[in-house]
Amino acid sequence: MSNKIAYILVFILILTIGCGDSASDGRKLTKHPGYEYMPDMYRSPSYETYSENPLFPNNSTARQPVKGTIPRGFVPFEYDNTLDEYLQAGENLINPLKNNLSNIEEGEALYVMFCAHCHGKNGDGKGSIQHPLYGAVPSYLDDVLLRRSGTTMKELSDGHMYHAITYGFNAMGGHASQISPEERWQIIMYVNELQKENN
Ligand code: HEC
Repeated sequence: MSNKIAYILVFILILTIGCGDSASDGRKLTKHPGYEYMPDMYRSPSYETYSENPLFPNNSTARQPVKGTIPRGFVPFEYDNTLDEYLQAGENLINPLKNNLSNIEEGEALYVMFCAHCHGKNGDGKGSIQHPLYGAVPSYLDDVLLRRSGTTMKELSDGHMYHAITYGFNAMGGHASQISPEERWQIIMYVNELQKENN
């Protein structure tokens, strides 16, 4: 009799101790974080990225790239985004690519992707974008209005166009991050064709 009660008591004790909080997926939740032996193995003593680091001179945060380093794929453009350098680029730059069908076709594909929605499929400035901000897209064929180049749109040199594609101009954004230098020259070759065709 007392044996039975003792068994039942022990059984109840086990149940109460054994049942901690458990999460909905059945995992046991415990309030004790557990013991850590050799905590270095859990918590890495390495420095956080960009944290101060006594191993570098002056306790600096990160090592700077070697002077003159350029990011992979980045091609420096020696002309700045100023009117003066725009004019210089217009005078000095010449298209380094061979004028052949494959470059022109590549230029056309890129023009359709990056320019036609504003400048129009045939370069008349009547693209599909109707927003008033882009209402005044100039036609590549315009031979009346003088532009910052001192020439009309029709007389823009390849260098002017290269500078304009690279940095943009007013409502037109720069395309340097989307279009590689080679692709810019291919597009310009195609714009030249548009200007000829419509002559
Ligand atoms: C979001 C619309 C938009 C896109 C996209 C766009 N342009 Fe323009 N572009 C303009 C507008 C607007 C102007 C006129 C800016 C002004 O005169 O204030 C312009 C001007 C120009 C000019 C004349 C710049 C100058 O020096 O006077 C050239 C060249 C040109 N764009 C070429 C291109 C080429 C090539 C592409 C494609 C890579 C392109 N644009 C993409 C809106 C656009």
